[in-house]
Amino acid sequence: MQTQMLIGGQWCDGADGARIPVLDPASGEEIASVAAGTAADATAAVDAADRAQKSWAGVAPRERAEILRNCWQTLIAHTDELAELITCEHGKPLADARGEIGYAAEFFRWNSEETVRIHGSMSTAPSGANKIIVRHPPVGVVVMVTPWNFPAAMITRKVAPALGAGNAVVIKPPQETPLTALRVADLLQEAGVPDGVINVVPTADSGGWFDAATEHRATRMVSFTGSTEVGRVLLRRCADRVLKVAMELGGNAPFIVFNDADLDAAVEGAMVAKMRHSAETCTAANRFFAEADIADAFTEKLAAAMGDVQVGNGFEPGVTCGPMINPSAIESIGSLVSAAVDGGASVAVGGSAIDGPGYFFAPTVLSGVDPGASITREEIFGPVAPVIPFADHDAMVAHANDTEMGLAAYVYTEDLAKGLRTAERLESGMVGLNRGAMSDPAAPFGGMKQSGLGREGASEGIYEFCETQYIAASW
Ligand code: SIN
Repeated sequence: MQTQMLIGGQWCDGADGARIPVLDPASGEEIASVAAGTAADATAAVDAADRAQKSWAGVAPRERAEILRNCWQTLIAHTDELAELITCEHGKPLADARGEIGYAAEFFRWNSEETVRIHGSMSTAPSGANKIIVRHPPVGVVVMVTPWNFPAAMITRKVAPALGAGNAVVIKPPQETPLTALRVADLLQEAGVPDGVINVVPTADSGGWFDAATEHRATRMVSFTGSTEVGRVLLRRCADRVLKVAMELGGNAPFIVFNDADLDAAVEGAMVAKMRHSAETCTAANRFFAEADIADAFTEKLAAAMGDVQVGNGFEPGVTCGPMINPSAIESIGSLVSAAVDGGASVAVGGSAIDGPGYFFAPTVLSGVDPGASITREEIFGPVAPVIPFADHDAMVAHANDTEMGLAAYVYTEDLAKGLRTAERLESGMVGLNRGAMSDPAAPFGGMKQSGLGREGASEGIYEFCETQYIAASW
């Protein structure tokens, strides 16, 4: 197990020798500790990235692409080991953790293919006086702040395109799940990424770390995945140095079920949209709008499916929902449920935390939820499905859009035209039409409104890590 930080290809302890305890959320017990980086370590990591970046950018795209492909193969070859690490420190069921490694690795395969397709252009100026040549060099050093809910995939989704484009990176992994981050970095080095191109510095002093990393003159970009609240703070700090930013922020996804939907398929999709990776995803369905005449039937079927979920330690066979990440998650989910019930909602199944050890919450369905209830306005990030009946389609779409978040949305209907019309009206960066999952390295992941800036994945993902330079040329 790798527990030191990685700076310039060297594994080392932090400047002050401090450690961060890593806890197993299924028991609350400490399973390891990792080196805690200081502001000085963040500066050293940016120095190292800066030294490595220019020569990495000079490596031929084909060669960079081959290294990215090796990264894909290496991660896949270590699926079992990495999945076990994820389940240890995050708690998600082992099958989900294995799925995450496949997803995480795929960002390298996809971006190895994109690395040799970073296109520029050349055109003739309208006046005819010169040529307009457009090219896309790398931005330079990119600082990455990643979340705990996908300890591997939220790192690779950023690192693969950044490296493909010729950047070097400094990663601040989350305090909750640093072990996976460190081992992934170790494997990427083993796969051929040169020293200094990837640096990983865990810290218990996020503010000091971030300020040091972003005040460094070599840092040119920040890529963040996490809550909108934290994203706003980081954006303000980035403004001082006018850094390029990519932000994947919070969600509040509506899941809409029309009365012509195949209800069994809708419930199956709802379970995926709500419960994948222990219900701790930004894309998770947060509000279920069910057309009035099928709302009871949908709620009943969903409650039966949620009631069947086996909650427990992610290593136990049959478990499909692991623990929440920490006690404050349990507290926040519990208070949203209590407020909804106080506001008139009924508990169809679940409704409360499960006694520890560990941080478990019973899969919960709430019926008759008021569309204005706090649970429909805040990101639940836990296994709770509030169902809101609707009669008027326009009013339902207005409610669905009545949020500053616009990451994901889901629509179930057998009428494809209605489904597409509804999708077009939703202010959301991603829509699942008769699908409960839409994440794919080949698709542009990202949100509208306060759910983010920029896109990860697809062809545009790699350009997020590029500058645009235009050369006016005459010859
Ligand atoms: C996230 O929760 O931020 C990512 C979800 C996904 O990639 O599916």
